[in-house]
Amino acid sequence: MFKPSVGYVLMAGVLSFAFINAASAEPFNADLSRQYMSGDKVAYLAGVHTKKGLDCAACHTTNVISDSETEINKQCAICHGSLEQMGTKTSSQTPNPHKSHIGQMQCTACHSGHVPSVAYCTNCHDFPTLNKMKQGVTRLKAKFTDDLSKYEELKPVKIEKTDLLIVGSGAAGFTASMAAREAGVKNLIMIEKMAVPGGNSQLAAGGMNAAGTKFQKQAGIEDNPQLMFDDTMKG
Ligand SMILES: Cc1cc2nc3c(=O)[nH]c(=O)nc-3n(C[C@H](O)[C@H](O)[C@H](O)COP(=O)(O)OP(=O)(O)OC[C@H]3O[C@@H](n4cnc5c(N)ncnc54)[C@H](O)[C@@H]3O)c2cc1C
Ligand code: HEC
Ligand code: HEC
Ligand code: HEC
Ligand code: HEC
Repeated sequence: MFKPSVGYVLMAGVLSFAFINAASAEPFNADLSRQYMSGDKVAYLAGVHTKKGLDCAACHTTNVISDSETEINKQCAICHGSLEQMGTKTSSQTPNPHKSHIGQMQCTACHSGHVPSVAYCTNCHDFPTLNKMKQGVTRLKAKFTDDLSKYEELKPVKIEKTDLLIVGSGAAGFTASMAAREAGVKNLIMIEKMAVPGGNSQLAAGGMNAAGTKFQKQAGIEDNPQLMFDDTMKG
């Protein structure tokens, strides 16, 4: 649900293999396994695991990978423990990469299988120890020059229909969802581009701004809604 942008690309790859491998006990066929165990890919986290003698099935119990990667994350936790347990193991590191102040995070929000890993925290922070992960790349820099035309050829394998599509899982998105449910909309989908829901809203400290309050008057501060509006728009 929270990785919609990669979802279709992923499903396109996986569903076709689901067909080929229907009769096999292994989640992926031999050709695909070889492809994923050679070249650049071996440098990444899945390669580290296969070098330790673990096979594809360690992380992929089936050949279906959902957008949310829920089934993969279950496997990480079986072997390594939950985020909380990992947080105890790495508590001597500063900052502790497994101590999240932005709620529950999936392992794959940071650890990727077959592409470079990136610590999600570096979306907002510049922590030297997190700017490059072992199987990772240096801090991602936004590239606004990407050629998006390469995606034009992509065809979705799975099409979902909904009465209401809500883009973004911040306060506005969740409020809209709840209001729509209350108004009787039964079939709605909320999509989020980041690996963790909540947007800026989950960082807000709950402060309430107001203009021309009695506290300002008591302190001799002159203020009014227009001044606040102008100030906000300036910002
Ligand atoms: C550190 C901090 C402290 C703050 N403290 C306060 C406070 O005390 N009081 C206060 O009133 N305000 C505060 N604010 C401001 C407040 O948090 C924001 O104004 C408010 O949360 C905005 O809500 P939103 O739902 O519009 O956006 P967001 O909560 O940012 O939600 C937008 C969501 O949409 C997603 N999105 C964007 N584009 C796409 C796309 N193309 N596809 C899918 N998803 C997409 C984003 O990833 C994000 O999750 C604070 C902000 C910050 C950063
Ligand atoms: C350490 C766990 C792990 C192991 C081992 C692993 N994978 Fe993955 N795999 C992932 C994760 C995580 C993803 C989600 C995309 C990503 O992070 O690269 C994924 C995604 C995929 C996908 C979806 C397409 C894509 O590239 O994103 C395929 C296909 C796949 N893996 C095949 C394999 C094969 C074949 C093997 C065995 C050689 C294997 N995987 C071993 C973790 C693993
Ligand atoms: C079947 C058990 C198993 C599963 C499933 C598994 N791991 Fe591992 N993982 C291991 C083992 C074994 C090692 C090697 C430990 C060692 O050498 O000390 C390892 C190593 C690692 C390392 C250290 C790599 C390094 O270079 O030091 C990381 C990070 C990691 N795993 C993360 C994950 C994540 C994230 C997932 C899920 C996508 C996952 N693992 C799934 C067993 C597993
Ligand atoms: C969406 C942006 C965002 C993400 C992602 C994020 N943080 Fe933060 N972090 C903040 C904000 C905002 C503060 C609060 C700053 C303040 O109020 O002083 C903060 C504060 C902190 C602090 C205490 C202040 C400091 O700078 O020492 C630590 C430590 C921290 N974050 C670690 C992390 C770690 C570890 C992760 C990844 C698991 C992470 N953060 C992910 C935005 C983010
Ligand atoms: C916020 C990003 C983030 C998340 C989420 C995250 N990790 Fe990590 N993890 C890191 C970083 C950074 C390291 C430091 C090593 C490195 O650079 O790869 C690390 C190291 C590890 C190691 C190496 C062993 C050690 O003790 O240092 C293991 C195993 C591991 N993570 C497993 C997990 C598992 C399992 C989950 C999910 C429950 C998870 N991680 C979630 C960022 C993350």
